This record gives sequence, C-alpha cells and structure tokens, in this order.
Amino acid sequence: MSTGRFAGKVVLVTGAGSGIGRATAVAFAKEGADLVLCDVNEATLDEAAAAVRAQGRSVLTRKVDVSSAAAMQSFADEVHASFPAVDVLVNNAGVAVTGGLRDTTLEDWNWVMGINVMGVVHGCHFFVPRMIERGRGGHVVNIASAAGLAGSRLLVAYSTTKFAVVGFSESLRADLRRHRIGVTAICPGFIRTNINEAGRRRGRWAEPAAVERSRRLMERGASPELVAEKILNAVERDQGLVPVTKEAHLIYALKRSSPALLAAVWRRLEAWQAPEL
Ligand SMILES: NC(=O)c1ccc[n+]([C@@H]2O[C@H](COP(=O)([O-])OP(=O)(O)OC[C@H]3O[C@@H](n4cnc5c(N)ncnc54)[C@H](O)[C@@H]3O)[C@@H](O)[C@H]2O)c1
Repeated sequence: MSTGRFAGKVVLVTGAGSGIGRATAVAFAKEGADLVLCDVNEATLDEAAAAVRAQGRSVLTRKVDVSSAAAMQSFADEVHASFPAVDVLVNNAGVAVTGGLRDTTLEDWNWVMGINVMGVVHGCHFFVPRMIERGRGGHVVNIASAAGLAGSRLLVAYSTTKFAVVGFSESLRADLRRHRIGVTAICPGFIRTNINEAGRRRGRWAEPAAVERSRRLMERGASPELVAEKILNAVERDQGLVPVTKEAHLIYALKRSSPALLAAVWRRLEAWQAPEL
C-alpha cells in the first residue's frame, strides 16, 4: 500500500531518462505514484527506472521516439493493456536548436517541431481520450519554457515550438475542463540539464566562445528537482501556467506589464551570448 500525495496514481513521463523528466519521475515516485516512462535513450531510461524502483514504486519503461505517431500509438496500446488510463501525463521530452532563421535548416525545423510540438500533441492524442472515457479526471503537464513567453533571435525555432506548447496547453485546458482534466504549461528558465549538449547549435552560436558562455549560463541554472517540485504542486493546485526560476517569473511579469522593456532585456542577454554578432 503506497502513501504520499500521489498514492495510487499512475504517472507517465516522456523523455524521462535525463534532467527534468528523470527528476519528475523520482519526485512522483517519492509521493507514492507508479510510473510509466519513455525515452529514446534506453541506457538513461534504465537508470531512471532504477531510481523509481529505489523509492519502492513500480515502473513500466519503453524506448519510444515521441515524434513518431506509430511508436506513440503502440506505446499507448501497451500502457492501456496494463492500466485503463494514466492519471497524470507529463509531456516533457524536448530538444533545443540554437540559431537564427538563416542558421536553421529545414531539417532542424522538422526535428525540433517533431519532438517539441508533435511529441506533445502525440502524448495528448494517444493518452487523453482514455482519461476522458474512464471519467475520473486527471491532469496533463506540458513542459514549455520561458522561451515560450518571449521570442529570441538565439532560439528562433526552439522559441516557436515552445510558444506552440503554451498555446496548445491553454486551448487544451479550456477543452478538457468539462472532463475534470487539468492542463498545465510549465515554463522553466535556465535549468542545469543535458539539453545544451544534446541540442544543435548553428552559425555563430556554435563557435567555441558562444558555446562556453552558454555553458556558464546553464551551469548557474536551477536544479531539475526544483522544476519537478513545481510540477507536483501545479497538478495538485490545477495551475494553468507556471513560470519556474527567477528569470522566468521576470519574463512573464514583463511580458504582461512592459513588452518593450522585456525586448531590451533580451537584447542584452543575446549581446552577452554572442557579442560579435
Ligand atoms: N534545461 C533548461 O534550461 C530548460 C528550460 C526550459 C524548458 N526546458 C524543457 O524541459 C524539457 C526537458 O529537457 P531537459 O532540460 O531535462 O533536457 P535533457 O536533454 O536533460 O532531457 C531531455 C530528455 O528527452 C529525451 N528525448 C529527446 N528526444 C526525444 C524523443 N524524440 N523521444 C523521446 N525522448 C526524447 C532525451 O533523451 C532526454 O532524456 C524539454 O522539453 C525542454 O525543452 C528545459
């Protein structure tokens, strides 16, 4: 018999092998939930599963590419053979492309849109209808970003995907309210994870000095465990949009109160990231 804030619940986390996804899986396990985890990286997925089991919770894992509709369909079939529906769906898997329009290839666009946007859509498309049919409510958490609140010339494609996640989450929240399914968009600022190493850097942003400045910025970022804590709270409190970290709160506040000041702050940050540009 499990105890904790999420005792008896089944929580699915995509991209659970590393960073925010792994921390979120462990945080839910500590609060009594059983986990369903997927990732493209089988080795890190196994490590995440071991961390969940160490909390005494059960875990189902599968190597899945969230950008593939066919892979997500068969993942959902397998999950629903064990559980009628998941209680909490965390669409976390994501990748970054750093660069402006002329640096970003169409292949980069397809890659980042496929994972960051269609991955989230696939999660909802294949798992939410079962939540509705079961009739016991539930919650969807989509990991967006502070880059989904303010556009940046460093992150043209990435920012586009995260704006899409924020807009999708807001629309979905209105759509699913009558089924007692809450929807949260989480908007973290800088978090110390592998996202930079796993991502693509283009043009001048790929030069060693720019890479080093970006590494230093991420090094000073908050922990993935902080994001996990905010996710658990957001599910309990049914919050719609949750900025995480001081810079994300500042961006969100400036966006609403002074978009011109926000643009000026961004320009300063971008100038620091690549002063030669
Ligand atoms: N780190 C940050 O500063 C930051 C800030 C804001 C938002 N985010 C968002 O947080 C989420 C998690 O990123 P993270 O920072 O923990 O990075 P991370 O690289 O540490 O973790 C991302 C995980 O997603 C997995 N993944 C990548 N492509 C996948 C695919 N096609 N299918 C399934 N899994 C896949 C990776 O293998 C990895 O385990 C992302 O959506 C990211 O955009 C991160």
